[in-house]
Amino acid sequence: MRDLHTYFFNRWGVTKAVDGVSFSLREGETLGIVGESGCGKTMTALSLLRLIPKPAARIVSGEIILDGEDIVPKSDNEMREMRGRKISMILQDPQTSLNPVFTIGNQLKEALATHQRTDRKDMVSRTIDALRNVRVAAPESRLDDFPHQMSGGMKQRVLGAIAISSSPKVIIADEPTTALDVTIQLQYLQLLKDIQAETGLAIIFITHDFGIVARMCDRVAVMYAGRIVEDADVRELFNQPSHPYTQALMASVPQMDRTDRLFAIDGQPPALYALPNGCRFAERCSHAKDICRREYPPRIEIDQDHITHCWMLTPDWDNQPEESASQQQAVE
Ligand SMILES: Nc1ncnc2c1ncn2[C@@H]1O[C@H](COP(=O)(O)OP(=O)(O)O)[C@@H](O)[C@H]1O
Ligand code: SF4
Ligand SMILES: [Mg+2]
Repeated sequence: MRDLHTYFFNRWGVTKAVDGVSFSLREGETLGIVGESGCGKTMTALSLLRLIPKPAARIVSGEIILDGEDIVPKSDNEMREMRGRKISMILQDPQTSLNPVFTIGNQLKEALATHQRTDRKDMVSRTIDALRNVRVAAPESRLDDFPHQMSGGMKQRVLGAIAISSSPKVIIADEPTTALDVTIQLQYLQLLKDIQAETGLAIIFITHDFGIVARMCDRVAVMYAGRIVEDADVRELFNQPSHPYTQALMASVPQMDRTDRLFAIDGQPPALYALPNGCRFAERCSHAKDICRREYPPRIEIDQDHITHCWMLTPDWDNQPEESASQQQAVE
């Protein structure tokens, strides 16, 4: 993704849900996208699938190069052809994403039939295979089950089976596990990793949970108010979180051995329809200086594969004047 901008247009103005997002994803790699609710994670994912809500939202500019081809200019028909085959998404909520009046077998068959023509007998065996791929025990006996006859974890697996049924290159899991309990979550995530090891699938995990990121991801992009503020290898990010927002997010992760009060980040992110010129985190950042509010911070390469946007890491930071009194008052 290169400098992608996806905006909502309505009668109150323009909401910059995705506002200049760039990242890359290699075969077999897992990228975590983290950030507070409302920062544009889901819209980034929906832009990748070209499934943003129409007509309210529009990709205004930028490129999404998938397998060497820019998908932004593609027609809806071309996109329908690519979706599933090249890029696929696991829907958020296993409880509501399956149709309650059709059997699991039927719903899987429909997903398979969208991409390949095969005769009926072959289709049954492929449906069974699809369930076996997501480690559903005795899949033959589950085909005639309705969703309500399955546990939440099992339904999640069926959704996973639908998403990978056409062997996509990229799969997006958007907060995939929030409706499931922790043990089931981890089993499911491990399953996705196993499938990845077999197929070279690239995965994008969208989550607000740093625990999941640490366990599952190779790289992490931290989003704040429509932009990526830090992007790094996962170990590097945990060892050396560089953006004050990333540091604050990490300090707010609950830990078993901590008894002190959990750190919460004061204040709110700026509204995406009235964004400031400067750093979008400035209102909540204890390091902010004048320059932070005036100009958007430049891209800083901390290391190979580790970038961030923060004035504090520029060579001239120590000489920058402190925040003027009028601005501090405005914050208060
Ligand atoms: N259907 C919609 N209509 C108008 N604005 C929307 C709509 N969906 C999302 N937005 C805007 O896009 C922003 C990003 O939303 P989203 O990508 O869903 O955030 P996240 O997934 O990080 O919680 C929201 O803060 C909101 O301002
Ligand atoms: S640019 Fe300034 S306000 Fe923004 S995170 Fe860095 S120090 Fe804080
Ligand atoms: Mg979301």
